Amino acid sequence: MKRRDLLYTGKAKSVFRTDDDQKLLIEFRDDTSAFDGRKTEALSRKGTVNNHFNAFIMQHLEAAGIPTHFESLVDDTQSLVKFLDMIPVECVVRNITTGSICRRLGVQEGIELEAPTFEFFLKNDELHDPMINRYHIESFGWAHASEVERMTELTFATNSALVPLFRDAGIILVDFKLEFGRFGDQIVLGDEFTPDGCRLWDSETREKLDKDRFRQDLGDVVESYEIAASRLGISIP
Ligand code: TMP
Ligand code: ASP
Repeated sequence: MKRRDLLYTGKAKSVFRTDDDQKLLIEFRDDTSAFDGRKTEALSRKGTVNNHFNAFIMQHLEAAGIPTHFESLVDDTQSLVKFLDMIPVECVVRNITTGSICRRLGVQEGIELEAPTFEFFLKNDELHDPMINRYHIESFGWAHASEVERMTELTFATNSALVPLFRDAGIILVDFKLEFGRFGDQIVLGDEFTPDGCRLWDSETREKLDKDRFRQDLGDVVESYEIAASRLGISIP
């Protein structure tokens, strides 16, 4: 497998074509971004940590029956994935309140929800990823009703697969964001699952082990990602 031209540069990852037109290489960079690109910094080792973190979680999800784009680790910062036709929608599940839901609904941080809740956001930095509902997705043709249902089902299934995985590692999975795409007639999990796109709290102290450390200038960002990784048994060179 050979790396070909750059297809797309995101805020934290670059995506390259390969000599297989069904496969892409994703490179996890050290670049770290928050608030829709308004705060950025390169954090040494983050690309390596996130690449290994993502590989571990994607493999766990595959084993739990959730189809993912992940194929293999290529080196410390790159992974081979399936080339998906991405749906421009972000699927968020929350187990505990924090972040935007507290601002939107005027609720306290740290409330354990009676049942996990679910939200869609439009992937659009200029508009600051506005919250949308399934009817927006269907009316604007971003995805069909059956695809919306499948993304919802797979996002809840991901939560069910990951909550106990993190719990056994002494970590609360507070919330997370997923992105999906089409591969043939299948809806497949794409993008990434790393501490950049979820909230992870130490079960005992509720210390943050995720990108909120960067958003809130708490320091030790990558060190905290590595603590989460090592508790999950992920070995990172
Ligand atoms: P929020 O509280 O800012 O809405 O974020 C909810 C979760 O989804 C949190 O784990 C961060 C993640 N997320 C992203 O990673 N990128 C995004 O663009 C959005 C809207 C959320
Ligand atoms: N909206 C997310 C955040 O604030 C992702 C991003 O903008 O990079 O972190």
